[in-house]
Amino acid sequence: MRLDRALSNSGYGTRNDVRSLIKKRKVTVNGEVVSDPSMHISDKDTISIEGMSTLIKDKLYYIFDKPDEVLTAMEDKRYSNVGDFIPAELKNLKLSPVGRLDYHTTGLLIITNDGELSHRITSPKYEIPKIYEVIYSGSPLSSDEIEEAEEGLTLTDTDTPVKLRPCKIEVIEQNKINITLFEGKTHEVRRLVSHFGKEVISLRRIRIADIVLPEDSAPGTLYEMSPEQIDSLKSITGL
Ligand code: URA
Repeated sequence: MRLDRALSNSGYGTRNDVRSLIKKRKVTVNGEVVSDPSMHISDKDTISIEGMSTLIKDKLYYIFDKPDEVLTAMEDKRYSNVGDFIPAELKNLKLSPVGRLDYHTTGLLIITNDGELSHRITSPKYEIPKIYEVIYSGSPLSSDEIEEAEEGLTLTDTDTPVKLRPCKIEVIEQNKINITLFEGKTHEVRRLVSHFGKEVISLRRIRIADIVLPEDSAPGTLYEMSPEQIDSLKSITGL
């Protein structure tokens, strides 16, 4: 990987910032001052800035607390979108959201430039659990309805019936449930709930595998994933 890109990807400033550091002879590779920003480095090289050794990160992993009324997209001409919450120094690093949350769904969204991890989290083949907290209107779901949903509904709200995989439902309060899905069909939770004649009032994703948002998380906050969180996601997806 190019030195300037590696430093910039690892959070040491924009590409221009790091080029300027290199020009000022503040960057060393294996103890030697470098002047060429395009120099190729590998995992084995030790890079320092002003004598402080750096941690080069090839891939980046974030979690985002998606607010209501935000599109799961990195840019959009008309609507507020996830890209609006990404700081300038992280633009152009090919970050993208893993899967989609509806415009009105809030909560946990993973954002990364690790395409393979992203694929494995979203592909039904890997059965990665995603947990949604759902508040709905109408009479509470009966135990028969919950059992039917858990066994795997067939939705008939479109021309072609859609078979859902089994899911798990935990009743939290009268009109509040946590649903664990192992796939991600379009508007799956909303359609599942409306299959029983009820309507989702609020939908928040609270967990993906072992990843949760901090308890006091404020919508719109972007968090860097800890090495432990990254390792746990990689290990559950077999990477
Ligand atoms: N299910 C939905 O209906 N919407 C979401 O945003 C996520 C899951």
